[in-house]
Amino acid sequence: ALMEDFGKIVVAWQKRHGRHTLPWQNTRDPYRVWLSEIMLQQTQVTTVLGYYERFLARWPQVTDLAAATLDEVLAQWAGLGYYSRARNLHACAQAVAQLHGGEFPRSAAQLQTLPGIGRSTAAAIAAFCFGEHVAILDGNVKRVLSRVLAFDGDLSSSAAEKRLWDRATELLPQQDVDRYTQGLMDLGATVCTARSPDCLICPVQPLCRGQHAGDPTRYPVKTKK
Ligand code: ADE
Repeated sequence: ALMEDFGKIVVAWQKRHGRHTLPWQNTRDPYRVWLSEIMLQQTQVTTVLGYYERFLARWPQVTDLAAATLDEVLAQWAGLGYYSRARNLHACAQAVAQLHGGEFPRSAAQLQTLPGIGRSTAAAIAAFCFGEHVAILDGNVKRVLSRVLAFDGDLSSSAAEKRLWDRATELLPQQDVDRYTQGLMDLGATVCTARSPDCLICPVQPLCRGQHAGDPTRYPVKTKK
């Protein structure tokens, strides 16, 4: 298999072996997808599930969240950690309500201008909700792609990170970017894990340069400080 097949392989694998029943899947509502992506940035899926349902029950729409006080949002967030996420969540809801008429903008470029939404989160929302042809690069996807590519740049350098973003964009399939994006997340969570990647069941093993080089866990490269 060739690297140009990568996207199609990930899409086909996601259909058969990926996760399909998480509560933020099977929706194109950017409010729901945004809320899940912010919660999932530094928190495990199993922990997020309960918080996600309680937030949506209390604030069903972004305008409801915008009308809440910051103290109410912080209290509802208590236990999830990284509280700047909750402050940005509230500020972002208010920006959507006040500057965008209560509707999330529909492109990654515009989403990225909102509080707490970086390049990868903007791309995830745009791909899942609007089918935009854009790459994500969160922590798990950095690991998967650096292994597949045997990428030897040090990701603490912004130049190397920029190169990996460019490679991630080159790997995008023409079609099904939403399913491809979920597939990369699912591969990172279930197969290409940090400590013990399961290369024997990995759908992209035939084209994985890190695996062929002998040890995929050498990637991403960590330079000694
Ligand atoms: N982590 C970040 N985004 C996710 C998603 N959409 N599904 C599962 N885990 C995730």
